[in-house]
Amino acid sequence: MMLLNKEDITKLLGVWSGSFEVYAPGRQQNEDVMFMPYDEKSFTMDYLNTVMPVKEYLFEQKENLYNWQKSDSDIQITEFDPSRLKARILFGVRACDAYGIAYLDRFFAEEFRDHNYAGRREKTYIVAVNCVEPGYNCYCSSTGVGPFAQKGFDLMLTPIGDEYLVEAGTDKGNELIELAAGIMEDVGEEAEELKEAIEKAVLEKFISRVNLKNIAQVMDETFNNEIWKEISKQCIGCTGCTSVCPTCTCFNIVEEEGCYGEKCRVRYWDSCQSDSFTRNAGGHNPRNEVSRVRYRIYDKLKYIEERFGFKGCTGCGRCINVCPAFIDIIEVASKLKQEYKHDMEAMKQDNAAAARFEIHTHGPEHRCENVYKPQIAVIKDIIQETRDIKRFIIQYEDKTLHENYRFTGQFFEITIFGVGEIAISIPFGPSQKEYFDFCVKKAGRVTSAMHELKVGDKVGLRGPFGKGFPFEEIKGRDILIVGSGVGLAPVRTMIVRIMENMKDFGRLVVIASATTYEGLVYKEDLKKWAETDGVKVLYALSKPTDKVEAYVGYINDLLPELGLDWENTTSVLCASPRRIKAVAKDLIKLGMKGTDILTSLETHMRCGIGKCGHCKVGNKYMCVDGPVFNYEEMLTLPPEF
Ligand SMILES: Cc1cc2nc3c(=O)[nH]c(=O)nc-3n(C[C@H](O)[C@H](O)[C@H](O)COP(=O)(O)OP(=O)(O)OC[C@H]3O[C@@H](n4cnc5c(N)ncnc54)[C@H](O)[C@@H]3O)c2cc1C
Ligand code: SF4
Ligand code: SF4
Ligand code: FES
Repeated sequence: MMLLNKEDITKLLGVWSGSFEVYAPGRQQNEDVMFMPYDEKSFTMDYLNTVMPVKEYLFEQKENLYNWQKSDSDIQITEFDPSRLKARILFGVRACDAYGIAYLDRFFAEEFRDHNYAGRREKTYIVAVNCVEPGYNCYCSSTGVGPFAQKGFDLMLTPIGDEYLVEAGTDKGNELIELAAGIMEDVGEEAEELKEAIEKAVLEKFISRVNLKNIAQVMDETFNNEIWKEISKQCIGCTGCTSVCPTCTCFNIVEEEGCYGEKCRVRYWDSCQSDSFTRNAGGHNPRNEVSRVRYRIYDKLKYIEERFGFKGCTGCGRCINVCPAFIDIIEVASKLKQEYKHDMEAMKQDNAAAARFEIHTHGPEHRCENVYKPQIAVIKDIIQETRDIKRFIIQYEDKTLHENYRFTGQFFEITIFGVGEIAISIPFGPSQKEYFDFCVKKAGRVTSAMHELKVGDKVGLRGPFGKGFPFEEIKGRDILIVGSGVGLAPVRTMIVRIMENMKDFGRLVVIASATTYEGLVYKEDLKKWAETDGVKVLYALSKPTDKVEAYVGYINDLLPELGLDWENTTSVLCASPRRIKAVAKDLIKLGMKGTDILTSLETHMRCGIGKCGHCKVGNKYMCVDGPVFNYEEMLTLPPEF
């Protein structure tokens, strides 16, 4: 532990500036304090907190994921190289933002490690400065995150009279202390006691308090509470609350052209409070204004912690400061619990019980492949399946990628360069190695652009992603597969796999449904499958046809006649959520268990790897935890997909 005289703070920052880019709180002309390149004139230590969280230095508001260029028939991709960044110090980070960084480390730098974030983080040193004067809307003492930093920092300064107590949290922090030799002096461990006494006194100063104990359970009971309707009437959807939040991580991905004509795939901060966040092609939006305001607060107080073990709300109070509609997360939590500003003792006990987590280190082992970068692939053939559905036969340009391909997952992300990226299901089985084929329905911008492509054109492929259908586990059972419209594509993978291993299964029944016969995909396959021993193919259409023998009506009507051993049957359904529920209910009446009814759910997706947040339903990311769920799991999800 070291002591630094407050008067020497600029000397210290001056020394560090010799080796680092230093960012520190600076007062703007309008009196707001923001993180900015260190400048002695605007620098201030007299601030409650910065207007924006420090996260924007690690997860930038807008950044290129990669650039690409087309020359003749080739597409070249170039990426951001974080090794070219100069090491930098973020100085003056409050406990709430330091904790926010610890969470971002968990979120971005672990599974599907984010190249841009991890690269910046590795080069960044965090210097926290503990708070001794909480703001009116600060409530980090209630979330258990502050007022003194516990994680997410390399070096921590605590104001003690005319001095700062300086403590290293990591080796990076020790490095900073070494650089400042001569400016600080050693101090004995007794300073720790003084620090504890100061923290105790600061805890007494908090005006805003709420007992968050059991908030997740309380929220389980209050999903349909009137409060959500009330605050949804107030919210104007400005997205301010998510922009200022240190733990909001959602982003959108778009194609742009840079200043010099270069083509870029760009991500920028997005918000679950925006109406377009979950809207699907075709206009269906599973979240209305009530579910949008509810989702944000559930995510902050419940889902993030359930999923990642980190508090989703650090208690910084910024969303309350910024909200033009006076929506106040403390008030909402306390209304839900009816315990606003409750007694201090109980709160301290709750905080003591709050889990403490390890700080993540950022060594070279955290370098990673760019998880957003697609592999180039060539369209080898295009088959017009229906009026608005085409099948694309696609091959990686680099053949070794096919050789090394391991069958897994449920979908790929297909890039149409210059337009965007779409999630498309895997309709093939593991034996199809030399090429892929995807069935794409013209629905909106990207799918329409894909429909314009010709044989020989290049696309990008990322994947495979998601949790696919089980296979080994369902051997020995009767199988019922239902695919509606283009929904036959995701379940086709199961059909071809089972047909290649018929001896391991009981009976296989396939029901293909569509409005008209012409609207069915894989018509030739359906005929071929119908000729195979042990396989029955049925058609359920809305309009009669003379092309095949088809039932005109709902799929449900066909079920009782199938004669399957229902207790020993697994069914795989792919249709609209409404239709899935209707069929599943009837299957349960026939004797099936909800866990034996499998489905592939469809939600708005962007990244496919659990980062952009678009597909999150409750604490589940459809792209990594699904899209395959069994019916019982599906019923546990909030009805927002
Ligand atoms: C796991 C999964 C598998 C899918 N498999 C297939 C398939 O095999 N064949 C097929 O034709 N379609 C499939 N879809 C739907 C397909 O992804 C959408 O139709 C497509 O993204 C619409 O994009 P757009 O740009 O044409 O539409 P727009 O309305 O212009 O959408 C813009 C962007 O919003 C997102 N988006 C919009 N709608 C959807 C949606 N329904 N699902 C996911 N993201 C959406 C996409 O990022 C899209 O690029 C699948 C979706 C998911 C989630
Ligand atoms: S939800 Fe509000 S109070 Fe909580 S961390 Fe985010 S901005 Fe701060
Ligand atoms: S800041 Fe307030 S009004 Fe704006 S989106 Fe958030 S809750 Fe709604
Ligand atoms: S989190 Fe981005 S699509 Fe799932």
